[in-house]
Amino acid sequence: MLTTQEGSVSRTAPRSPRPLCTMSEVTVRPAESADVGVLARIYNHYIRNSISTFEEVEVAGEELELRVAAVTSAALPWLVACSGEKVVGYAYASPWKGRSAYRFTVESTVYLDPGCRRRGIGARLYAELLRELGDRGLHSAIGGIALPNPASVRLHEACGFTKVAHFEQVGFKFDQWVDVGYWQWVDRAHRSTAGDVEPPGRAPSAGSQVQ
Ligand SMILES: CC(C)(COP(=O)(O)OP(=O)(O)OC[C@H]1O[C@@H](n2cnc3c(N)ncnc32)[C@H](O)[C@@H]1OP(=O)(O)O)[C@@H](O)C(=O)NCCC(=O)NCCS
Repeated sequence: MLTTQEGSVSRTAPRSPRPLCTMSEVTVRPAESADVGVLARIYNHYIRNSISTFEEVEVAGEELELRVAAVTSAALPWLVACSGEKVVGYAYASPWKGRSAYRFTVESTVYLDPGCRRRGIGARLYAELLRELGDRGLHSAIGGIALPNPASVRLHEACGFTKVAHFEQVGFKFDQWVDVGYWQWVDRAHRSTAGDVEPPGRAPSAGSQVQ
């Protein structure tokens, strides 16, 4: 017999809600066009409810499809995490800037289904993303984080990013000014010069969390 918080008595143990996802069953794969509806649903939650993206108008699945195509046609990765068959998060890289000498640098982005946070899935997605970037000859990734965002800061630092910049009051959302910090990962383990590496293609930016 258990006593509830309010003091009434219950004869059965409270059932904890079934988690939306557990780490043990999570797989990571490239995004497919059939995923764009879920990607839009995840991203739109953060457009509506957070400063983690500076977009303020929800995006349609069709727009997400164009963004995925822009990333993949630039030979960059757009990955999704799946719990069973269900897409529960995504991470991708987009060109950092268009000038040719920036060709080995990308901007990285990650979003999880709000019910699947803090289970190691963000770290898993980012680890896969960084491995893909290394495999494709990329040398540096930059994550822009609208602050405060302790989860994203910790995720980036746990994945080897270090803070390199802080811009004050560059965004204005929900009637307040928002700072943006930049965290950078450099693939120092590999080449110090990129002369012999074929860079990925370039395509228009897919749009990122603080653009
Ligand atoms: C940021 C985000 C991707 C992190 O993914 P996640 O799956 O929740 O994070 P993980 O469980 O993999 O944890 C990674 C690290 O962050 C830490 N962390 C996660 N959530 C945290 C929180 N709310 N506060 C502090 N630390 C947190 C974990 O403890 C872990 O650190 P450790 O390696 O030292 O143990 C996820 O919270 C999210 O989608 N947030 C909303 C969208 C967003 O802000 N995206 C980033 C835009 S820059």
